[in-house]
Amino acid sequence: MNILITGAKGQVGSELVVEALKRGHKVHGFGSKALDISNTEQVNNTVKQIQPDVIINSAAYTAVDKAETEPAIAYAVNSQGSENLAKVCKQYEIPLLHISTDYVYDGEKQSAYTEVDTPVPTGVYGASKLEGDQKIAQIWHKHIILRVSWVFGQYGNNFVKTMLRLAEQRDELSIVNDQFGAPTSAKAISNRLLDIIDAEQFNQPSCPWGTYNLQSDPGVTWYDFAREIFTQAQQLEIINKKMKLNPIPSSQFPTPVKRPVNSKLDGQKLQQYFGQLPVDWKKDLSLMLNTIKQPTI
Ligand SMILES: NC(=O)c1ccc[n+]([C@@H]2O[C@H](COP(=O)([O-])OP(=O)(O)OC[C@H]3O[C@@H](n4cnc5c(N)ncnc54)[C@H](OP(=O)(O)O)[C@@H]3O)[C@@H](O)[C@H]2O)c1
Repeated sequence: MNILITGAKGQVGSELVVEALKRGHKVHGFGSKALDISNTEQVNNTVKQIQPDVIINSAAYTAVDKAETEPAIAYAVNSQGSENLAKVCKQYEIPLLHISTDYVYDGEKQSAYTEVDTPVPTGVYGASKLEGDQKIAQIWHKHIILRVSWVFGQYGNNFVKTMLRLAEQRDELSIVNDQFGAPTSAKAISNRLLDIIDAEQFNQPSCPWGTYNLQSDPGVTWYDFAREIFTQAQQLEIINKKMKLNPIPSSQFPTPVKRPVNSKLDGQKLQQYFGQLPVDWKKDLSLMLNTIKQPTI
């Protein structure tokens, strides 16, 4: 298939390009400079020229805390950008796959979030992402919105890379232990989106368009995640020391935007309609660490 990928230099976008090429698709990956999704004219001209069979939007304004002080940019990318893509997709009848976030939920629910739970974002980033999701859903029915949480991978910046960098400088770290969620690899997200595109029912009259949550297991806290990162990194001899980790409450690590206490996503709908089981993030972490294996610290 002829696939147009936006945000192609981000964590997920980079993996999407690699994985789509591996599957034999023709890929047009655009970084933010080549295609600014908030620029309506640029979006229209690019799509008109490429005439893709499907568009995957992995472009987003993702700076959660910074969004509080520059909401106009966050909304321009996450809301207006999504609207631009949905409109042009409708014009040319192109299915649109889009990535959303656990930050559309407030994290107050006691169990995993399903697609019928009412989103209540607590900050500008989450609110701008939610507005983008809603615009897509209103404008063009041929869409798949995949909500994911705690993204990590070999490209871009993320928690895993931060932990490995901090291990070069310190022997002891304090990590938040009262926020519960699930890490999800950018590679897994990419492959799940491509599995949808490659599914028999994709773009058929029976295609179950809509919003899906991608479940990753097991659910953990950031502290648990850090422990697993250092355990695996030691086993792979990426680091050669035992890190001392101190579990702390969020109150000891204040951020401009309060993080959801519970970010766990329920993937039953995805399993029901596309046969996709939850992602195993520990396996994906091992894959990532093997890929980026560096000289021993
Ligand atoms: N990261 C997470 O933990 C997380 C969690 C849940 C959901 N998500 C969602 O997952 C998706 C992918 O996120 P990610 O982690 O891959 O983010 P990322 O690494 O920050 O990548 C986003 C990409 O979008 C590009 N971009 C920003 N503004 C743009 C614009 N106006 N036009 C076109 N491209 C633009 C960025 O380019 P520049 O760098 O040049 O600005 C960047 O390469 C997003 O929808 C995000 O909301 C992420």
